[in-house]
Amino acid sequence: MEALAALAEAPATMTDPTVRDGRKAGAARVIVVGNEKGGSGKSTVAINLIVGLLRSGLTVASIDIDARQGTLTRYLANRRTFAARRGIALPMPAHVALLPSDSDSRAAAESDERARLATVMEELAGAHDAIVVDTPGRSDHLTRLMHAYADTLITPINDSHIDLDLIGTVDPETRKVIRPSVYSELVWEQRKERARWNRKPIDWILMRNRIRQTDTKNAREIEQLVNSLSRRFSFRVAPGFGERVIFREMFPNGLTLLDLREAGIETPLTLSHVAARNEIRILLDMIGVRLPD
Ligand SMILES: Nc1ncnc2c1ncn2[C@@H]1O[C@H](COP(=O)(O)OP(=O)(O)OP(=O)(O)O)[C@@H](O)[C@H]1O
Ligand SMILES: [Mg+2]
Repeated sequence: MEALAALAEAPATMTDPTVRDGRKAGAARVIVVGNEKGGSGKSTVAINLIVGLLRSGLTVASIDIDARQGTLTRYLANRRTFAARRGIALPMPAHVALLPSDSDSRAAAESDERARLATVMEELAGAHDAIVVDTPGRSDHLTRLMHAYADTLITPINDSHIDLDLIGTVDPETRKVIRPSVYSELVWEQRKERARWNRKPIDWILMRNRIRQTDTKNAREIEQLVNSLSRRFSFRVAPGFGERVIFREMFPNGLTLLDLREAGIETPLTLSHVAARNEIRILLDMIGVRLPD
C-alpha cells in the first residue's frame, strides 16, 4: 500500500508539463499479467487483481490487449450489466480494449501500436493509482511492448512441467537451469527496453495457478523447479491460486469472490472461499496493497 500510496501522492507541481488535474502523469503503477502460454489464468488473475485493488480503495484502469478474444472486456461488461439489473453499485475500473494494428506493413503496424499505446498509457496513468493489463497467450508486437511498461509483471503458470518449460529448461537430475525459454527471453528483452527508457526494473512475480491439494508430489517438484528458475531469472514467487470452482463460476455475472456481500449473493462461506480470499490477499500483499478485512 505504501508503495502505491507514495506514487499516488507524488508531489505535483503546476509547472510540470506532465501534470494534469493536479496529478502526475505516469503516477499509476502498471501491473501486467502475462505469459505466452494460453489458458494459464491471466484473465482470471487480472479480474481478481482489478477488483482487489478497487476494494482496497485505489482508482484503477484496466487494459485488454487480448481484445480479439476479449475475456476481460466481456467480464467487465457482464459486471456492468449485473450491477444495472440489480440496481447496485459495483466498483468498476476505467476500461480500454486495445486491438492490434491492422496495417499491412509491419513497420507501420508497429509504429501505430507504439503511438496508440503511449497515448493510452499517458491518459490512464495520470488519472489512476494502478493500471492492470490483461495480455494474450502469444508474443505479438503489442504484447511485447506492453511488457516494457510493466512496473510489476505477474505471470500465472499452470502447475505443470509443460508450463514451466516456457520459462526455462531445468535439468531434471541436477535441477540446474540449462537455458532460458521463449517467455523469459521476452521478459529479458523488455527489461532491456525499459532500461533504455530509464525506468526502474520490472518486478517480476511468478505465481502457480490451479494448484491441486491432492497432487503433492507434482506440487513439490514444481515448487523446487520454480525456486531454481527464480534465482536465474530474477523473479519473486507468489504462493498462487488453488484449483477452485469459485475462480471460474462467476464470469457470467462479472463478479469475483470479493463482491459476494455487495452483490447480495447468499452463499455460505466455505473453507474454499476463505482460502481463495486469502490467496488474493497474499498476491495483493506481494505488490504492497492491503485488502481491507
Ligand atoms: N485457480 C483456478 N481455479 C479454477 N479454474 C481456473 C483457475 N484459474 C483459471 N481457471 C479457469 O481456467 C481457464 C483459463 O483461465 P483464463 O481464461 O483466466 O486463462 P488465460 O491465461 O487468460 O487464457 P488465454 O491465454 O486464452 O487468454 C478458464 O476456464 C478459467 O475459468
Ligand atoms: Mg485470457
